[in-house]
Formats: sequence, structure tokens, C-alpha cells
Amino acid sequence: MIKLIKSTFYQEEKTKQKLVHFIKNARQLSFGKECENFEIKFARWQGRKHCVMVNSGSSANLALFQALLNIGYLKKNDLVGFSAVTWSTNAMPIVQLGLQPVPVDIELNTINVSSKQLLKVLKKYPLKMLFITNLLGFCDDLEEIVKICREKKIILTEDNCESLGSVYRGKKLGNFGLASTFSFYVGHHMSTIEGGAICTDDEDLAIMLRLVRAHGWDRNLNFTKQKELRKKFHINQSFYARYSFYDLGFNFRPTEIAGFLGNVGLNHLPEIIKKRERNFMKLAKVLYTKSDRYYPLKYQHLTVNSNFAFPLICTSEKLRNELVKKCANKVEIRPIVGGNIRLQPFFTKYLTGDRFPPTDNADLVHRQGLYFGNNPELTRQEIELIINLFNS
Ligand SMILES: Cc1ncc(COP(=O)(O)O)c(C=O)c1O
Repeated sequence: MIKLIKSTFYQEEKTKQKLVHFIKNARQLSFGKECENFEIKFARWQGRKHCVMVNSGSSANLALFQALLNIGYLKKNDLVGFSAVTWSTNAMPIVQLGLQPVPVDIELNTINVSSKQLLKVLKKYPLKMLFITNLLGFCDDLEEIVKICREKKIILTEDNCESLGSVYRGKKLGNFGLASTFSFYVGHHMSTIEGGAICTDDEDLAIMLRLVRAHGWDRNLNFTKQKELRKKFHINQSFYARYSFYDLGFNFRPTEIAGFLGNVGLNHLPEIIKKRERNFMKLAKVLYTKSDRYYPLKYQHLTVNSNFAFPLICTSEKLRNELVKKCANKVEIRPIVGGNIRLQPFFTKYLTGDRFPPTDNADLVHRQGLYFGNNPELTRQEIELIINLFNS
């Protein structure tokens, strides 16, 4: 059986040995130097000024929305567009924090939101923000989307939890908007077991994210910012200063174990991406050619397609159902991410009666899509087995 997730870490045995050694010798395992080093290195790797590490990609999304509200970039009831095909905890914070979610349909040939789909939605829905998901290493015409958002003063942020390392027109995905979120969950590109991060070039947002990440207090802010906050709120005794809570927050701090694993994982990241891209190309050349079985996906516009799971959209529901049976005990498959989020029970529970723009392509992906894992440690034989299985 070729599993969706082959191992917890790339080079699992060596990484586990390093981890054991680290834990034995570490004096502190709660948030500390390893996490802080990771933040510096990850920001550099991504090409962003700031990185705030958290304990999952879902926390990254929730923290980002809370920080945007705290800082006043967003206010309650603002309309927030999101990619109709994405993960649950991409859309959930919009509902949880009193904003209004608006699903934006995707394109069948990129499984991502395009400028065309965005413009269609904007005719009826004056979005204040677009939280776009760069799905499975792909994107559509992001540069056009950036232009539209700039012209219409829409805040653009990217959920890049599935596209760490993808490059479009010479720029890494995750660098097109105000901020971007990342996941380091086991099955994703780089594993800290659970983990996530938010990257941004906006200093005020980064400061607020650090506050939101840890209880709403100022302990992880620099001295100047602490002084400023304490002065503003007349907190002049150090006894209270450490226990003053300035705005709404959570506890999303990662542990030093995640920080350590992140630092180890970053060293392997270029190799992981290269291997996954090589697998992707082998599979795409066969499975994305014109056929009566699958909709061909477009990937040639990407300089690097950093893909961790290979999506297929069948031309009929019947074929998808046949493949589900055929793959049993051979290749583990699943729906494409969360399918069309609009059709998920949580969405229909909390958004009854609301009117939304049509999401025909996302509906089709929901009914006819599937994906299997693209692991850097897939063998040539395993790739051949996958190709034979899906191509016959
Ligand atoms: C697009 C997207 N956003 C967010 C997440 C949440 O990440 P995590 O599992 O680290 O909470 C996922 C998870 O798979 C995802 O696919």
C-alpha cells in the first residue's frame, strides 16, 4: 500500500536520532531559542521580513485573522473571499471571528482562484479581504489578482500551507500578499510533526501576531515595543507588566521540539522540493495529457511546482468511484483537500440562508476529484505502479 504519508520526517531515522539527542540535552523545551532561530531562518528562506512560528497551520490562519482585527485592518462583518476548494480551517476563522465568508470558485485547469473568478464575485460582493489558498503547489494568475486587490483596496493574504517552495514568475508563493500562512504538519512539505507559521513584511502586523500567539501579553515583543505599550496603558510596575494582556489572543506557541525539527527540516527543504517536483513531472507528463479520463491541469506557468499530493479530476463521478475501489489496499487516496467547503456540514450549519456566488467548478472537484501522496521518498517502482493504476 502506498500511503498518503510515508514517514514522519524526511530521513526519518537520522532525524529521530538528532531529536533524541536534542531532548536529552535541552535545558528548556517550551518556546525559546530554537523557535526564534527557526523564525529568522524561515523568514530568510521565504524572503520575508518577519516570521511568527505557531503550533499549526490552522493556528496560523486563526492568529492572522485575530491580528488583522486587533490592528484594525479588518472589522466585524467585513466580507472575506476565500477559495471554495480549500481546507476547513482556512474558512473557519472567518466564521469564528464574526466576518462574512464569501466562497470564490476555482478554475478546473489550475484548481485555484483566478482573476476571472475574483472579478465575477466582485460584481456582487464588495470584498474587504481575499484569503486565497495556493492549492497543492499550484496557482492561477496571481499577478493579476494582486493588481485587482491593489486597485480595489482589498487585503490579499495567502494560505500557503500546501505550496511551500512553489515559484510563480520568479517569486515564491506566499510572497504575493500582505501575509501568508504555512503548515509544517507531517504530511506537508516539511514536518515539525505539528507546526505552522505566518510570514509578513508588515512590522505592525508581525508585532500583533506575536501578541496574539501568546495570551495577548507583550513578552515576545522587543524592549521598545514593550515600553510603548506599558506607557500607553499606564502599566508602570514590572510586577504587573508581565501579566498585562493588551489585546485578544490565544496560546499558539510552538515548543522547542518543533523549533528544533524546523531547523533540521529547513536544511533538507531544497532537496525535498526537488525530489517532489521530479515525481510531479513524471506523473504530470502522463496523467495530465489530454485524455477522456482526467481534466488536464496546467502547471507549465510555474517556475517550480512544489507539490506534496497529486490531484486528479476525473471526467465523471462514475470513474472517480471506480478508482476509489480500484485503489483499495494499493494506493491511499482522498478527496482534493476539503472539497468544496460550501458543501461541508459546518458551513451549512452556520451559514444557512446566506446567498453565495455559484461554485460550479468546486462542486465538480468535490464530486470527481481525488489525490494521492507525492512523497520525496517514492521509489521508481511505486511511481510506475501509480501510473499504471490510474492510466488503465
Ligand atoms: C490549505 C490548508 N490550510 C490550512 C491547513 C491547516 O494546517 P494544519 O494541519 O497544520 O493545522 C491545511 C491542512 O492540511 C491546509 O491544507
